[in-house]
Amino acid sequence: MLKNRRILLSIPHMGGTEEKYVHEAFTSNWLSPVGPNVEAFEHAFGDRIGLPAVALASCTAAIHLGLHLVGVSPGDEVFCSTLTFVAACNPIRYLGANPVFLDSDRATWNLDPNILEDALRKHAARGKLPRALVVVHLYGQCADMDPILALCRQYGVAVLEDAADALGSAYKDRPAGTMGDVGVFSFNGNKIITTSGGGMLVSRSAAWVDKARFWAKQARDPALGYQHSEMGYNYAMSNVLAGIGRGQLEVLDLRVQQRRANAFRYRDAFADLAGISLMPQAPYGLHTNWLSSFLIDEPVIGASRGALIQALDKASVEARPVWKPMHLQPLYSGCECYGGAVAEDLSGRGICLPSSSSLTEEDQLHVINAVRGAVGAGALTELPQTYRSAR
Ligand SMILES: Cc1ncc(COP(=O)(O)O)c(C=O)c1O
Repeated sequence: MLKNRRILLSIPHMGGTEEKYVHEAFTSNWLSPVGPNVEAFEHAFGDRIGLPAVALASCTAAIHLGLHLVGVSPGDEVFCSTLTFVAACNPIRYLGANPVFLDSDRATWNLDPNILEDALRKHAARGKLPRALVVVHLYGQCADMDPILALCRQYGVAVLEDAADALGSAYKDRPAGTMGDVGVFSFNGNKIITTSGGGMLVSRSAAWVDKARFWAKQARDPALGYQHSEMGYNYAMSNVLAGIGRGQLEVLDLRVQQRRANAFRYRDAFADLAGISLMPQAPYGLHTNWLSSFLIDEPVIGASRGALIQALDKASVEARPVWKPMHLQPLYSGCECYGGAVAEDLSGRGICLPSSSSLTEEDQLHVINAVRGAVGAGALTELPQTYRSAR
């Protein structure tokens, strides 16, 4: 039994060296949004991803600057995956542009390339193509990028990859975030690695990365004194937090293994239950399973998704529904949406289970048995053995 504590959805998991880098920031007095940790974190991240990188205060800030880089301006339209977190599309509005939402496919839960094709064809016929596409890699799995990139190239639409949830995942051996014009990542406290809050922007264009760095620091002209010719923002990452990021990056591969092991142990522990299935693992890449996400077939399993979340809550387990699609958000009511039924279905029946890389075997067994108990299945006495080695 759990005593006076809850098993949360996704919590920070330090690797061990983070404090050393943070301590260095203190001893050297680099307690500002510039310094050796920021430079080292950007270089280490860039080396890992294979592209130049700039560390920012959040992924939301990175999306804002990324859309600015690809030229999104007031009155433009920007296509965006509808099944996502609101931060993926709010920056479209920051820039005075209008989001147009696109549905998911069932095979990946990500943006459906067929829907994208249909939307591009219709917008071309109207004579108003979108300036950009924000394609989200949901819960650690890449969207099917080859057809998406080919379509965007054909129609001259810029691609911003929102890899907030997908650091460490890959599409045909290409790291998430490196395939579009701009890629962005989140280090929020619930992500696969964290700086408590933070983000990263990458691009093949070093000039664009430098431009984003310039905008992130109030766009001060390289002139004597305080002169500004362009709008700037206060979006730089603190040198203290970049120290956490340096340490976290050292354990990223282990965190990927641990998150994947969580998901596969849940899957195996529910193998005898009809009506609960792990988010599909597309054959084209590496899905980190940042969040272990399942689809409930309510009549088959005999419990509603809501009842399941409530039963878990009673057992001191935090579970969450899959994102509510953007086209259903009051904030975006009236926006155009292509399709939407798949995202609505996934959102209505999807559940995310505790997925921390630090989840203990005892706690995962507790979660599993809370789910099994809620649907009237017998308890397991131990975890499935298959994925133990990843701990
Ligand atoms: C898909 C997606 N995009 C963007 C963000 C925003 O990231 P941040 O919290 O770092 O601004 C998040 C989440 O936290 C996210 O899940």
